[in-house]
Amino acid sequence: NIARVEQVMLAAPVIPVLIIEDAKKAVPMAEALVRGGLPAIEITLRTGCALEAIKLVADNVEGAIPGAGTVLNLAQYEAAVEAGSKFIVSPGATPKLLDAAEQFDVPLLPGAATSSEVMALLERGYERLKFFPAEQAGGAAYLKSLSSPLAAAKFCPTGGVSLEKAPTYLALPNVLCVGGSWIADAKAIANEDWAGIEERARAAAALRA
Ligand code: 3PG
Repeated sequence: NIARVEQVMLAAPVIPVLIIEDAKKAVPMAEALVRGGLPAIEITLRTGCALEAIKLVADNVEGAIPGAGTVLNLAQYEAAVEAGSKFIVSPGATPKLLDAAEQFDVPLLPGAATSSEVMALLERGYERLKFFPAEQAGGAAYLKSLSSPLAAAKFCPTGGVSLEKAPTYLALPNVLCVGGSWIADAKAIANEDWAGIEERARAAAALRA
């Protein structure tokens, strides 16, 4: 699990977090992200067409690594795996969700925001975590303070992260990548601004030299 999640986290410095309202936009959006250098993308299960969008990307976009975000329970985990998700992201972690994850080969990147939450996940074998909500929970200074006592845990901070804030996170010893919606927000997707999405993806991909 650790190796497979880490592969996703190291594919690029940023994992775009996406809310897709129209499945028809999924393929051109993912193509723009891949062209810009961001293959791993998190499509959140917050809209009715999210699973269809994941399937369309998995089936049609070469080079893309589609994942499902906002996965809260076994039913969503199973549906996300069936749709072709290569990884699963959750905003937090519950014993039930972790039990569910054990039934599937597709790895989970579970969310945590406190040292006790991180410790509970380490106890269950999770060393690659989402730090959520990053900015609101205390930002890079907070996350840095976890790096010495909880050195095994490496994070993808997500929540309030921007192109400007990403480098501070990426410089931390316990950060492998960051996540964020700024590359392809709802407006850019609705407006089919594929060139803008590609441009922001390229800038994000360049964050790691
Ligand atoms: C989310 O769950 O919406 C992600 O954390 C993205 O957060 P952001 O919109 O602040 O980048």
